Amino acid sequence: MAIIYDEKAKCITLHTKNSSYQMKIGNLDYLIHLYYGPRMPDSDLSWQIRQYDRGFSGNPYRSRHERTFSLDAQPQEFPTQQQGDFRIGSIDVMNADGSRCFNGLVKDVSISEGKYRLLTLPASFASDKDTVHSLRITLEDEYSHVQAILQYGVFEQADIITRSVTVKNGGRQPIHLHKIMSVCLDFLNGSDMDIVNFPGRYGQERQVERQPLTHHVHKIRSGRGISSHQQNPFVALTDRTVTEESGSCYGFSLMYSGSFLAEVELDQYDQVRLVMGINDRLFSYAVEAGEDFDTPAVLMTYTDSGLTGMSHIYHDFFRNNLNRSRFVKDVKRPVLLNTWEAAFFDFDDVKLVEIARAAKKMGVEMIVMDDGWFGKRDDDNSGLGDWYVNEDKIKCGLKSLVEQVNAKGLKFGIWMEPEMVNEDSDLYRAHPDWAFAMPGRTPARARNQLVLDLSRQEVVDYLYGCIAKVLSENNIEYLKWDMNRSLSDVYSAVLPASRQGEVLHRFMLGLYGLMERVTKDFPDVLIEGCSGGGARFDAGILCYSPQIWCSDDTDPIHRLSIQYGTSFGYPVSTVGAHVSASPNHQTGRTTPFNTRGVTAMAGTFGYELDPAKLSLEEKNMIREQLGIFREHYDLIQDGFYYRLTGLGEEPYMAWEFASEDRNEALLSVVVKDIQPNQTLINIRLKGLDPDGLYKLTEESKKYMVHNMMYPDIEARREYYKGDALMNAGYTFPMVFGDYPAMQLHFSRVD
Ligand code: DGJ
Repeated sequence: MAIIYDEKAKCITLHTKNSSYQMKIGNLDYLIHLYYGPRMPDSDLSWQIRQYDRGFSGNPYRSRHERTFSLDAQPQEFPTQQQGDFRIGSIDVMNADGSRCFNGLVKDVSISEGKYRLLTLPASFASDKDTVHSLRITLEDEYSHVQAILQYGVFEQADIITRSVTVKNGGRQPIHLHKIMSVCLDFLNGSDMDIVNFPGRYGQERQVERQPLTHHVHKIRSGRGISSHQQNPFVALTDRTVTEESGSCYGFSLMYSGSFLAEVELDQYDQVRLVMGINDRLFSYAVEAGEDFDTPAVLMTYTDSGLTGMSHIYHDFFRNNLNRSRFVKDVKRPVLLNTWEAAFFDFDDVKLVEIARAAKKMGVEMIVMDDGWFGKRDDDNSGLGDWYVNEDKIKCGLKSLVEQVNAKGLKFGIWMEPEMVNEDSDLYRAHPDWAFAMPGRTPARARNQLVLDLSRQEVVDYLYGCIAKVLSENNIEYLKWDMNRSLSDVYSAVLPASRQGEVLHRFMLGLYGLMERVTKDFPDVLIEGCSGGGARFDAGILCYSPQIWCSDDTDPIHRLSIQYGTSFGYPVSTVGAHVSASPNHQTGRTTPFNTRGVTAMAGTFGYELDPAKLSLEEKNMIREQLGIFREHYDLIQDGFYYRLTGLGEEPYMAWEFASEDRNEALLSVVVKDIQPNQTLINIRLKGLDPDGLYKLTEESKKYMVHNMMYPDIEARREYYKGDALMNAGYTFPMVFGDYPAMQLHFSRVD
């Protein structure tokens, strides 16, 4: 049983395949956190909690004159507010009388089969590989009758525990939430822990940072109304000695795409507390008597198998338990050519059909018409909001264009940015109050656009109508859902002054409601999320779109570190990656075509260039690349992904896909900095059968020839033992030229 409630010991233990999590209804009915770590027997671990008189830490009144019971020094599941715990908190609620207090004591515990549901927020679900149980613990403040209902979903096989909180106002007056975190995890000793997070900027998302916890509050957050380029709602706490292969790792992935907050505090007693949830900046939410407020879920995991072990847990979970689209498992995603870097705003129907014709010849399966096809959109000053075709550009009309592309044997995909509006648009002229702006002030523009108020149902309904019309009147099989600015001037024209603190979260609920309707009504349309590249790359959006455009930086050398960082929390099947033109549009760097292909194959793979500008040799290479990608599609999308190098001193990066049955592996290496008289690249593979005999396939040798200084050396050896490849490694011959890349496929023969 995954959830055990020992009523006598008042202990609740959750078990997954490799982890256990324990809580106890402790002194005075406070809910104490006892343990999260390697799987353990169910026995009560409360003996490890010691109580002392802690100066300036206070004691709950009901403990009478017992000075040793201080909430400031107790590990807790949902810390109280204003009861003597001065660490970072789970809740800041203002009661009707103006008091800011929540003293939650356990009222009820219930266990059920299956996964609990959150109605308005993205949710994970049980897959056929797993059994899931849910636990609900109700904490109640006896004075205000406000409840915090802690909900846990235990995915036993997946090694994931989800946690969210529902606040129920059981009182008679409205309350105001100023902070409500989805998760709180306390550790008795965290002085040797590191925090790993993924900061970045536009075009440089999800770089990896790792630092020791020190005695202050580490804040990882976005206040931009999107999960953001600057931080990601995924963090890990690890042993200081953790490596890719071994050591303890705790992962926390928030299923939310708006402003978020993760706080980690190393306290005066070297205890650690982590909380994570909706950012409290600009947040205040009125919960009327009898109403509920749900927080988004956090997906937690623990593993002692190092960073790779942690990543594999999330990769698996995201491939099985997050998104029901048939493109996740049952249907192969088409290889697409996107028009953005091919033509930017400068195209018309004739040019698109021409691109389609050339793309078909190269073996591409779908054309995606990016920004610029609608309204009066010739640049980014106008048109957003007017989701009808720009007849100056698409003179034949959208339907005919789609038909012409289909007639060439290609699928058709389209770009939209539903949440935005330009002032120069029919939509804005008709409904200026639909855009965020504060009374009497002019709103900040970003990319010349304003943000639509998705907290209003009429706006959401209007957008649904626009999207549904485009998708239902034309044979469109893919939608790139873009979002190109951070939110400011957050103010809704229809909410009273006292409820303006709800707008950011209501915007998210509006967005999720819209995505839910679109995915439900158009299940055959593949949705790719996007936000100026990867500013909304999170477990919330991934519930609706199986893939997200990872970054606007398509320079393959920069992409190495972006995709590397992304891989810690997200599987390769979610990472939108394309081969683009060289010199690169963002950096001006020149790289070989092969290298661009190898890098984009650590993602969904596609193209974003003008076929008319390609040489014959490049066109042939596209055919070759497509052959390789298609042949290894399952291995790339579903295999175990291994990071074989870090962001250290090595002048190259290497990664590998290994199949679950250990019958094949694809090893990729890209050299970032070529050196004379070079040290050889020796890579130890992972995930093979030590006793297996592996053959280097023919196609791999061809790849080597593209880059080798002495190609003849390579052809000599063909067979390798698994243990040799994993322990001694594969040594590449010397490589040559700018940014060479190699991709070797090993297939088991014995
Ligand atoms: C930002 C996206 O990330 C790009 O790929 C492209 O779609 C542009 N927006 C279009 O405006």
